[in-house]
Amino acid sequence: MREGSDRKRTIAPSILSADFSRLGAEVEAVEAAGCDWIHIDVMDGHFVPQITVGPGIVRAVRKVTRLPLDVHLMVEEPSRQIEGFAAAGADIVAVHQEACPALSEVLEAIRAAGAKPAVAINPETALAKIEGVLDQVDMVVVMSVNPGRAGQDFIESAIEKIAGLAKLRRERGGHWLIEVDGGIKPENARKVAEAGADVLVAGSAVFGSRDYAETIRALRS
Ligand code: DX5
Ligand code: ZN
Repeated sequence: MREGSDRKRTIAPSILSADFSRLGAEVEAVEAAGCDWIHIDVMDGHFVPQITVGPGIVRAVRKVTRLPLDVHLMVEEPSRQIEGFAAAGADIVAVHQEACPALSEVLEAIRAAGAKPAVAINPETALAKIEGVLDQVDMVVVMSVNPGRAGQDFIESAIEKIAGLAKLRRERGGHWLIEVDGGIKPENARKVAEAGADVLVAGSAVFGSRDYAETIRALRS
């Protein structure tokens, strides 16, 4: 069976590549263009060199859209931030396996705070590192670039990882979604969806395009 072919593909533009001087209008524009979720990349200057946004921006985005907010925490000690992001309106909170020595507890804390827990893994991190928590998560985020910035090239080994997760999901009757994040464009969207990805994050491909609706359609089709 080809994964992804009979599932609805979720398109989640990352606001990291939006024009921050017009953030509300940008979010409204991608919503009007037909996207499904809004992906918000949180970087703390420690887990990755860049610093991006905090709960205040999540709260601001929450005001202008009813779409699910998919908050991707690229931070050290994410357990300290969970309540703040959940209270700000995050629907999904993803933490990195690499940042969580007590991963299971952190995922539990996300659910307790009222959000859906997700676990993200870097390109170098093996699936074996998260196998033990798969029953606890609503989504796995397969990073297809090294986290840290937008506009990088897709790392091909992500395909195998997505396919491996899809296989595990079939074998275990799991329900977690598979999100792929980094370097996604209309040219490689089909390949990742066929490997089993349900949710496609795209930052520069969407916000760098002239016609958001056309790009989102192309990512979906
Ligand atoms: C990378 C972020 C991604 C990134 C996606 O650290 O997690 O969400 O912004 O950007 P593109 O689609 O441009 O690779
Ligand atoms: Zn992200």
